[in-house]
Amino acid sequence: MHKKRVFSGVQPTGNLHLGNYLGAIKNFVDLQNKFECVYCIVDLHAITNRQDPKELESNILETVASFVAAGLNPEKNIILNQASVAAHAELAWIFNCVARIGWLNRMTQFKEKAGANKENASVGLMVYPNLMAADILLYKATHVPVGEDQKQHLELTRDIAKKFNNDFNCGEYFPIVEPLIPKEVSRVMSLRDGKKKMSKSEESDQSRINLKDNKDLIDQKIKKAKTDAASIPTEVGGLKNRHEASNLVSIYASLNNIKVENVLKDFGGKNFSTFKSKLSESIIEKICPIGDEINKLLKNKDYLYKILENGSKKADLIAKKNLKEIYDIVGLKKFS
Ligand code: TYM
Repeated sequence: MHKKRVFSGVQPTGNLHLGNYLGAIKNFVDLQNKFECVYCIVDLHAITNRQDPKELESNILETVASFVAAGLNPEKNIILNQASVAAHAELAWIFNCVARIGWLNRMTQFKEKAGANKENASVGLMVYPNLMAADILLYKATHVPVGEDQKQHLELTRDIAKKFNNDFNCGEYFPIVEPLIPKEVSRVMSLRDGKKKMSKSEESDQSRINLKDNKDLIDQKIKKAKTDAASIPTEVGGLKNRHEASNLVSIYASLNNIKVENVLKDFGGKNFSTFKSKLSESIIEKICPIGDEINKLLKNKDYLYKILENGSKKADLIAKKNLKEIYDIVGLKKFS
């Protein structure tokens, strides 16, 4: 039996949004009181797409600030940046040799991100899920809080763990991880198109609520959010094929920690303008204090660097010990 440990990661690509918050970071905060947690700013993942070095550095700090502003306690959790712990990249190489090319070819996120010109995507983008498996398994994490878009990557992590355990005949050396995906809103969708995921790479800023948006901007974006002509349904079945309506109701449910059916009990039969003003209020109440705190924390860069330094040292101790075991299993020796 493995000791329960939570691991998750967020890319420092700027503009963390409501999808990152409701899909992942809100859950990180809830879990910190129940498990030993490791939360990682995955800077090595970010460079699978070209990054401006100066911007990358400031986005890393902004991601630490967002974690803390959302309620993560740096004393209680290990908060690190991936580049500080070399074993992430070392284990990823071992997994490059365990995972099969066919497995990676099936990854839908690679297809989406590489777009039409697959030949021109970085090799890093292709093997990215192996690095993600390494992030998690390096700490022998058992539970991984993520949004629904990462589910396929976690299935691959499970396949890699099983194949490694089997190939090297080492029992259940690597745990078979459990994804923790929020029920009410597993995938927050764009405010402009309910079939597309809310994303930092989407060109229109109107499509998302950023954690640093102010009250007026949030109000304006929700007023403009796409809906349909019908009123709010009274039953969950009435949301079927109404992607935009379903998204807004789910966001409200998640922010208020209630079930979608209870939102429909309160708002069923009402029009969207009434609902939207309540939704704006909820978003403003939860998100604006986080945005204010991010801005405050960003004024104290030394404090944010200290969090990463302390967290990375703690993570490195676990990682080095586990990597030594893994090298022994594989038959590799380190002489330095
Ligand atoms: P990233 O940086 O794209 O997103 C960070 C987290 O936010 C969630 N998320 C969403 N959830 C719901 N609705 C959305 N619209 C939405 N957009 C983003 C993501 O699911 C994720 O949980 N590959 C990962 C980072 C990673 C990782 C890991 C995660 C690297 N190593 C190990 C877990 C464990 C990614 O790119 O997330």
